[in-house]
Amino acid sequence: MKIALCQISPIYGDSKANIDKIIKNIENIAADIIVFPELATSGYFFVNKAQSIRYAKELLDYGFEEIISEKARKLGKIICYGYPELANDKIYNSAKIIFPNSNYNMNYRKTHLFYKERFAFDEGDTGFNVVNYPEGDISIGLMICYDWRFPESARALALQGADIIICPSNLVTSIWTKVMPARAIENKVFLAVANRVGIEEENDERLVFNGLSGLYSYSGDIIVEADAVSETIIVGEFEPRETRDKSFNSINNIFNDRRTDKYSKLH
Ligand code: ACM
Repeated sequence: MKIALCQISPIYGDSKANIDKIIKNIENIAADIIVFPELATSGYFFVNKAQSIRYAKELLDYGFEEIISEKARKLGKIICYGYPELANDKIYNSAKIIFPNSNYNMNYRKTHLFYKERFAFDEGDTGFNVVNYPEGDISIGLMICYDWRFPESARALALQGADIIICPSNLVTSIWTKVMPARAIENKVFLAVANRVGIEEENDERLVFNGLSGLYSYSGDIIVEADAVSETIIVGEFEPRETRDKSFNSINNIFNDRRTDKYSKLH
């Protein structure tokens, strides 16, 4: 299976330009799964809810989800993107995965809000979920960016049977590159990070987004990786079925060996 990670630089507040770029990429990339970064339709650096709600509403006005669903169906591709989601009078930093067969579509609302996201979004309420897509023989889990800091995020997805964890991101450091491979190894899953590049400024504060989008194998190796500054698309290949046997020798199995009765202090 081929996965494309679109390391783009969304234009802050220009929903139309961002949507056009996303659609153009979808039409031109040869891959089974196409992933865009966190908040790919709007840009990132919101500091209040009036800003994030405005761009969530624009997305609804454009009928973005319907457009992407139609592309997924026609082109037979799985498409994942981050976006501001207005729902039930709340505003979430969300990621959606859309399948050629829309019955499988899944939405994830970011659990761990980073920095000034706390002023611009409500805390996600979906928890961590996995979708099994039998037509592709693949199970996919979603988390977003700062969720990486919490090993529970990836663990919850792996325990539900994820073969690959997809992580749309707007990462502003590079320390996560040390940790994502560990999450892949300890859970025996593939892990795909679609990060963005570019700079955003708000009230004299600059955020620099650090690229390095990558697909990691369940051994923690880089299958494919982008550089830290370019708008680029990288495509990596992986076999989802390889993750399902969690044994690593004739005796040890990383899931069966867990001693959950000894982990009670985690709560
Ligand atoms: C982040 O969660 N966007 C760093």
